[in-house]
Amino acid sequence: MVYHIPWIYTPVRSVLAIWHQLTKAEIPELAKCSVLMRDRSRVEDTIYAMQRAGAGRLQVISDFDMTLTRFAHNGKRVPTTHNILDHRLLIDEDCSKKIRELLNTYYPIEIDAGRSAEDKLPLMVEWWTQVHELLIQQRIRKELLAQAVKESSTMLREGYKVFFDRLTEQQVPLLIFSAGVGDVLEEVIRQNNVFHPNVHIISNYMDFDQAGVLRAFQGQLIHTFNKREGALSHASGLRVLQGRPNVLLLGDSLGDLTMADGVSEHQNILTIGFLNDQMDERKELYVKSFDVVLVKDETMEVPNAILKYITSSTDNKLDA
Ligand code: TMP
Ligand code: MG
Repeated sequence: MVYHIPWIYTPVRSVLAIWHQLTKAEIPELAKCSVLMRDRSRVEDTIYAMQRAGAGRLQVISDFDMTLTRFAHNGKRVPTTHNILDHRLLIDEDCSKKIRELLNTYYPIEIDAGRSAEDKLPLMVEWWTQVHELLIQQRIRKELLAQAVKESSTMLREGYKVFFDRLTEQQVPLLIFSAGVGDVLEEVIRQNNVFHPNVHIISNYMDFDQAGVLRAFQGQLIHTFNKREGALSHASGLRVLQGRPNVLLLGDSLGDLTMADGVSEHQNILTIGFLNDQMDERKELYVKSFDVVLVKDETMEVPNAILKYITSSTDNKLDA
């Protein structure tokens, strides 16, 4: 028998072990070429542990702009919640020009793989503060926001309905943690019919006067690189998230990785990062930082597959 000859047996065993590793996952979406993982076994073990604990122990924390919304569609950038406000009904041409100039100056800094988060932090504060001041000067009217959203080209990622609906069916809370504009974000998900009762939002909310005119932004500013502070001060206090130590985290920026920092006594955290832009420059950093990296993937296919697995019945196991 060839199996009794060690120098044949060992390589055969190795090949079989590798084959088993490659085929064991019941999440075929993880084998897509757009999916990168630093440690596939760890990903599978984490998903498996989360599935065993069940939907009752799970919470999902997600960024909004360019995570739940698409990055681009038909070669054109999809607007962020801030960019949706760049509408003739809400702001004048001069303001629009200034906001675009700020975007062109600061967005490349936000995604620059060569700069640290500490280095970027004060610059992000500068960007957000200037944009918010410009918006306040425009005396934006609350009643016009819905129309601006309707006429914008905003788009949630393909498969978004399955994502939101599954979480609702399974009674899993979804915390949307966004450095965008909360009022606009709410309107986007409302118009897409997915603003379900299990959705909770932490974001920059507008403060309107009695006549419905924008006069300030509420609370402490949230930008891409201070989400940790918001997580500790706001998210940690949310009752609906208590007793749910398993976290599925979705983001598109390295700053999004701190969104789960307020989860006390967490057990398993699986982080999924959408790598939308500057792929070659940032790939290495993203693979080091997120458990699962989705390169230029405009869909919710992979998060949906993972979610389906985690919330499926206990007899469905990765190793089965
Ligand atoms: P997020 O936390 O929901 O992703 O929202 C923050 C994004 O918004 C971030 O990637 C930068 C972007 N942004 C704009 O597109 N325009 C702006 O004027 C500002 C201040 C931010
Ligand atoms: Mg984002």
